[in-house]
Amino acid sequence: MAGSVYGTLFKVSTFGESHGAAVGAVVDGCPAGLMLEREYIQAFLDRRRPGQSRFTTARKEADRVEILSGVFEGKTLGTPIALIIQNEDQRSSDYSELKDIYRPGHADFCFDEKYGFRDYRGGGRSSGRETAGRVAAGAVAMKILSGLGIGINAFARSVGPFTVPQEITDTEEARRNPLGIPDPHIYAEAAKYIEELKEAGDSAGGIIECRIEGLPVGLGETVFDKMDAELSKAIMSIGAVKGFEIGDGFRAAVSKGSENNDPFTMEKGKTVKKSNHSGGTLGGMSDGDTIVFRAAVKPTPSISLPQKTVTSKGEEREIVIKGRHDPLIVPRAIVVVEAMAAITVADMLLRNMSSGYEDVKEHYSRNKGKE
Ligand SMILES: Cc1cc2nc3c(=O)[nH]c(=O)nc-3n(C[C@H](O)[C@H](O)[C@H](O)COP(=O)(O)O)c2cc1C
Repeated sequence: MAGSVYGTLFKVSTFGESHGAAVGAVVDGCPAGLMLEREYIQAFLDRRRPGQSRFTTARKEADRVEILSGVFEGKTLGTPIALIIQNEDQRSSDYSELKDIYRPGHADFCFDEKYGFRDYRGGGRSSGRETAGRVAAGAVAMKILSGLGIGINAFARSVGPFTVPQEITDTEEARRNPLGIPDPHIYAEAAKYIEELKEAGDSAGGIIECRIEGLPVGLGETVFDKMDAELSKAIMSIGAVKGFEIGDGFRAAVSKGSENNDPFTMEKGKTVKKSNHSGGTLGGMSDGDTIVFRAAVKPTPSISLPQKTVTSKGEEREIVIKGRHDPLIVPRAIVVVEAMAAITVADMLLRNMSSGYEDVKEHYSRNKGKE
């Protein structure tokens, strides 16, 4: 069974089930000599942690990350970095009733059909908890990128029917409220809506927008490993993400060429675009502009309203899911989106270093100089 490893040079594998002993990640290919502290990684995990607001599950996890290897005296060694987060609040009894019944909107049915059995405790490997490993690994990638002046910020562009106008991108405001919305008025309306849904035992979806700033031109490899193709795979691999678009995305399909093309101009001796319908990539390579992409997140599948389903024996049943669930996945997935974007960009950046012979020559002549 494959599928738990992502990346070519900056390679991340995640491990662990929701109610097993631990979850985590192994990062292979991180350059040696990067200053990396446990607290830096912890700050990212703290943004994903459940139980922090009335909009997230009451599951109380400290989500304390430990660095098991790959770092010595505060610096990366260039060896695999193993990051582990113990599972502490594992109330598996919440899930024993779900052993033989398929929760609508979850992976239970497909796991049973595929393997004949599954870890039924909280979705096992398909749980949102798996993303803790991604966030830990993403923090390592972010440390590489921030040292190069590259910034990655995501926020909620919409929650249920409430959408923040395109020109509002205030990530600081988004960090101030528990829904991650960059506008205080829209936050107030959306919060009321989510409270009502929670009260009714229902859930909502939303759209996460992510902006990657400070990239040079040319990151991304033609043809299959285009920057937008890689980002799309990384983001679509997050549970509950059902759509990905870059730049104008689906809107580009209904605009005219004269509207959708971004004219080039010269600014301080540099070729730049006058607009950014492309979303920061052309031909699968970063075009020097901000990369702007959006991920559509479905409503939390675990709802406490009665739903029709079947058991593993083929009996039709009604299911009422108890346990502890978020009425909205978006707020906790924001940092997961940032993490997957960071992992992708770090990988593309390292790959780009060997794409031109002149770069290879420069690297080796520098090394020779050291002899
Ligand atoms: C950060 C995060 C938290 C999640 N929390 C929950 C949750 O509390 N309850 C739930 O039913 N689904 C949750 N999910 C979504 C499920 O894991 C996901 O919908 C399910 O595995 C089915 O996969 P699919 O939606 O990609 O098809 C979460 C996902 C993420 C990324």
